[in-house]
Amino acid sequence: LVLVVDFGAQYAQLIARRVREARVYSEIVPHTMPVAEMLAKGPRAIVLSGGPSSVYAEGAPGIDPALFTAGVPVFGMCYGFQLMAQACGGEVAPNGVREYGRTPVRVTEPGTLLAEIPTEHRVWMSHGDSVVAAPEGFSVLATTGGSPVAAFEDLERRLAGVQWHPEVMHSEHGQAVLTHFLHKIAGCRPTWTMVNIVEEQIEAIQKQVGDGRAICGLSGGVDSAVAAALVQRAIGDRLTCVFVDHGLLRKGEAEQVERDFVASTGVSLHVVDAQQRFLEALAGVSDPEEKRKIIGREFIRVFEAAEAEVVGEAAEQGDKVQFLVQGTLYPDVVESGGGAGTANIKSHHNVGGLPEDLEFHLVEPLRTLFKDEVRLVGEQLGLPAEIVWRHPFPGPGLGIRIIGSVTKERLDILRDADAIAREELTRAGLDRDIWQFPVVLLADVRSVGVQGDGRTYGHPVVLRPVTSEDAMTADWARLPYDVIETISTRITNEVREVNRVTIDVTSKPPGTIEWE
Ligand code: XMP
Repeated sequence: LVLVVDFGAQYAQLIARRVREARVYSEIVPHTMPVAEMLAKGPRAIVLSGGPSSVYAEGAPGIDPALFTAGVPVFGMCYGFQLMAQACGGEVAPNGVREYGRTPVRVTEPGTLLAEIPTEHRVWMSHGDSVVAAPEGFSVLATTGGSPVAAFEDLERRLAGVQWHPEVMHSEHGQAVLTHFLHKIAGCRPTWTMVNIVEEQIEAIQKQVGDGRAICGLSGGVDSAVAAALVQRAIGDRLTCVFVDHGLLRKGEAEQVERDFVASTGVSLHVVDAQQRFLEALAGVSDPEEKRKIIGREFIRVFEAAEAEVVGEAAEQGDKVQFLVQGTLYPDVVESGGGAGTANIKSHHNVGGLPEDLEFHLVEPLRTLFKDEVRLVGEQLGLPAEIVWRHPFPGPGLGIRIIGSVTKERLDILRDADAIAREELTRAGLDRDIWQFPVVLLADVRSVGVQGDGRTYGHPVVLRPVTSEDAMTADWARLPYDVIETISTRITNEVREVNRVTIDVTSKPPGTIEWE
């Protein structure tokens, strides 16, 4: 176990992921946790994250210097690097040069931390203060224009750090730096693999559920599918999955759940066709939040009714359903401040929001995992690639990708256009480079076009391909022109009501990923 101490920067989750990419299990703890409590967890190493403030600022979060004499290897990044320097007797000062963004760094002596890394490379910086003198016993490994001491290590005490952010994509060789610390300096063994996770989780689920029965709602997304497949492996047909088809899914997705998922896992599935009910509830509504509320409300009602049915059927056989499976991921757990074992239920952005009088115990086999790990577990369990590698999809589905009110006709138009965009993205081999690729129908807008000899008066669609690490921020994806061209030609040729294809080139912020 490696602990990532969060100093309030947005980078802690990314650091925890990078540690796991080095095949070492990591967890995030707040900087307010007493050092004794951190040590009680028996960590093999501790990583101090960056933070928003100067170590000299009033109320700046500190760290008990006892951390550095406890014999546990510690790595500091950015703010964490400065804290380490200060606590061990070095000097940190605002030397007048601020460094933000890509910065050239010069390796003066590679040591163990920067071994085999090019002498000149570029890293991502964000700091005002600098370490101007390294503490005694540390060797200085690198410098930049604004940081006389940009990296150091003390192999004796197994302490090391860098002024930059090795966890971000823009830092060259960042993963190598972190891996050197973990494997070579701290001596952590790379044993965190998906095979181990599957085995551990199956055992844990069997222990928790015993000979009880469980129920799981499937959304069509990867999280609930992997959670269900794991539980199925653990307890077999004592799990029943419920799938509510609200009619707002993309082309072929309901079939994938009903056919391919069932075939590859053998789960028993209870399908509710609620398409008509959702259309009626949404009739004439164009306000985005109103749509979300209606979809969320209807979903809970339909799901509860299905749940009651499943529970009732079990009762007839003298059985009780006490467990509810949820695909909660580690980022949700961290964001809601939950530690191990706490059952926080996230209602925001979760259309399956649970009723307050929840009577089930939660089974959350993905609580310690990041999304990319969940996909690997899904592969390990033999789920279809279409489900495992599916892009994130909002609970309210296509309902919030139709600008205007939702009707069956509009859904069908959008489904056709969306299917073409997805197909061409896959054909170009770009699925895994793109975070999400919403296609948005501007249903209340019409524009003039010409097709054949005739004038058309149709609707525009907007392509919204984005890249992102976690959906908090995003950039518009630079899709190759020929891919965009094929998508545009095919949509205007094959989807009769659409006569114009546009592309959204707004990052987030200021835009959001979805249009509603
Ligand atoms: P935005 O549009 O806020 O989206 O940049 C961020 C991420 O959240 C998804 N999203 C939702 N997911 N219910 C959900 O379950 C919602 O109401 C909802 N709205 C947005 C969106 O697809 C993106 O991944």
